[in-house]
Amino acid sequence: MTTLRHFLRLSDYSVEELRSILARAGVLKKQKESGEVYQPFVGKVLAMLFEKASTRTRVSFESGFSQLGGSVIDLNPKDSHLINHETFEDTARVVSRMVDLIMVRTFEQKRLESFASASVVPVINGLTNEWHPCQIMGDLFTFKELRGSVQGCNVAWIGDANNVLYTWLEAADIFDFHINIYAPVGFKIDATRMPSTRCYDFFLTPEDAARGADLVTTDTWTSSGYDTRKEKNRPVSARWQVNEAIMEKAKSDALFMHCLPAHRGEEVTAEVIDGPQSAVWSEAANRLHVQKAIMEFLLCH
Ligand code: CP
Ligand code: NVA
Repeated sequence: MTTLRHFLRLSDYSVEELRSILARAGVLKKQKESGEVYQPFVGKVLAMLFEKASTRTRVSFESGFSQLGGSVIDLNPKDSHLINHETFEDTARVVSRMVDLIMVRTFEQKRLESFASASVVPVINGLTNEWHPCQIMGDLFTFKELRGSVQGCNVAWIGDANNVLYTWLEAADIFDFHINIYAPVGFKIDATRMPSTRCYDFFLTPEDAARGADLVTTDTWTSSGYDTRKEKNRPVSARWQVNEAIMEKAKSDALFMHCLPAHRGEEVTAEVIDGPQSAVWSEAANRLHVQKAIMEFLLCH
């Protein structure tokens, strides 16, 4: 009997498995670009359950699963019994007996884990408060495509201690690269969630964090589900912005990434996100190919 595998966070996987998924994403991308039809999911169904808003994750999972021959159900909590009285676990028990794969975007990782424990089919993390593994797989794929191996590289994180940062940290631990973190005022790092290897350093200014970096990355001032920390309530001293002066401290060929959605004039200037070093559109587009490889890994292994 094979063990049911989910895709809930990067550290559930070995570096070899993650590398093989990334390599497979490259093959699937070339296949798609050449027009070759590859449909191993004919007759299969993906259910998507979003408890938070999404553009990229929704479209890339739906497009990806459809391109591989399957069909997709987008379960809106407002139109299902979830919003009123049916538990998340009972929803998992029922839905997983009718579909082949489930992608969930929700709040606490524990909520996702309970859902996955009750599911009889693989569950993929489409973002939780704590982790965003599909995003960082897409980012690693994009870095490799544009600059080669990330091993030994320096990634500058300018921003909040959020799901994207912690997933970058997990990736740095697994893939052997370094994260230089700028800690704005009010930034509270959770020491219990830091990797055991010293694959990171903290800096007091964004310029210092960016110095010599191969990649500079940031995220929104306020993550979804943290509405009490609205931008307008954030003290000026706790705001951050990746601008040209910060990019100039990085290597001359450094990339800029942002998981998106972006807020020009807040965490990043238009000059940077729309400038020559920005990789954000490839980064978003590559979610499609990487998630196809993740879904194929879960359904075809
Ligand atoms: N980066 C990302 O996950 O985007 P969405 O919130 O639009 O899915
Ligand atoms: N940190 C952001 C990422 C959005 C893709 C959030 O959780 O809202």
